[in-house]
Amino acid sequence: MKKAVFPGSFDPITNGHIDVINRALKLFDYIVIGVARRKEKNPIFSLSEREKLVKKVVANIERVEVKSFSGLLVDFVKQEKACTIIRGLRTISDFDYEFQMALTNRRIAPDIETIFFLASMRYTYLSASLVKEIASMGGNLEDFLPEPVITAVQKKLKIKTHQRPK
Ligand code: PNS
Repeated sequence: MKKAVFPGSFDPITNGHIDVINRALKLFDYIVIGVARRKEKNPIFSLSEREKLVKKVVANIERVEVKSFSGLLVDFVKQEKACTIIRGLRTISDFDYEFQMALTNRRIAPDIETIFFLASMRYTYLSASLVKEIASMGGNLEDFLPEPVITAVQKKLKIKTHQRPK
């Protein structure tokens, strides 16, 4: 069975991520979506919130499982008995970071390959941080996020705004 891990912060999961998952399912029998802890990135959603949201969004997609992980990605990949990491590439500006990460992972775990999927043209400009900015300014998120995520983002950002001292 060809099993791959699709890791990320998923803060939050976007339509671009779903696009990558659907493309990867054409090549792999089974995909484990690894939601990374990523404390340093200061996510707006907690790890368990991100994991729950991803689970909700992919609930109807077969051959996909969602798990959270902390620690090294390559250790998680080995733990899942997979041998491939899936990443999405949007623009050339992604490349430096992705190249560095893939080569570092290969250095520490030579048996694990990284495969990149080109995002659909519709999503090449899409990033979780831009989506959060649009949301915080009350913009329309329908093109970018799955429905349950829109609700969760709006709720989360409203709570944050209300908590901000005047
Ligand atoms: O969605 P992101 O934030 O671009 O995902 C980055 C992620 C989670 C894949 C990356 O930061 C990662 O693999 N983190 C786990 C820790 C790790 O293995 N670091 C070394 C990577 S070379």
